[in-house]
Amino acid sequence: MEPHDVERDLSEILYSEQQIRDRIAQICRQIEIDYAGKDLLLVGVLRGAVMVMADLARELKRDIEMDWMAVSSYGNSTESSGVVRIVKDLDTDLAGRNVLIVEDIVDSGLTLSWLKANLESRNPASLEICALLRKPEAEKVHIDAKYVGFDIPNAFVVGYGLDYAERYRNLRAVAVLAPHIYA
Ligand code: IMP
Repeated sequence: MEPHDVERDLSEILYSEQQIRDRIAQICRQIEIDYAGKDLLLVGVLRGAVMVMADLARELKRDIEMDWMAVSSYGNSTESSGVVRIVKDLDTDLAGRNVLIVEDIVDSGLTLSWLKANLESRNPASLEICALLRKPEAEKVHIDAKYVGFDIPNAFVVGYGLDYAERYRNLRAVAVLAPHIYA
């Protein structure tokens, strides 16, 4: 769906579908250089990373593998607590693999910090992070993400995989959710 389909629920469009596509293409060119001659396993974090994973994987002009993890963070609907539980683990053995975690957003950084430590313990050859969005002002733990699409203000955003109470994931743009929706 397009922003105009849910116009009254959004307060600002941050990035259009085209802007996201262009930025993902730039990141892919960098990934192709950085991983030239190496195998590459993309690990997507369900469910928010579905759109970025699908577009990133298809934009890459090389062969990759994909696997998925589902984690659940204890906390309320707009803030994560950093206490994470694996709901679905990977099917792939990470030992000796070049792993790139694909995420929708680095907010507090708590989820990715936990995930990175967890995957690191499985002895990959390398482990890096690619996130479409990052909120620098919300950072509670620093996450060294090698590829970041856009730094955004500390507002609650939806679209392109990101939800509010499971809604708006299919919005093609990234937009700030209007406060009256979650007030
Ligand atoms: P963390 O605070 O970095 O641990 O963020 C954990 C997860 O919360 C992210 O992977 C998102 O799925 C979700 N999240 C964080 N900020 C937002 C947002 O602005 N909109 C929708 N989901 C978000």
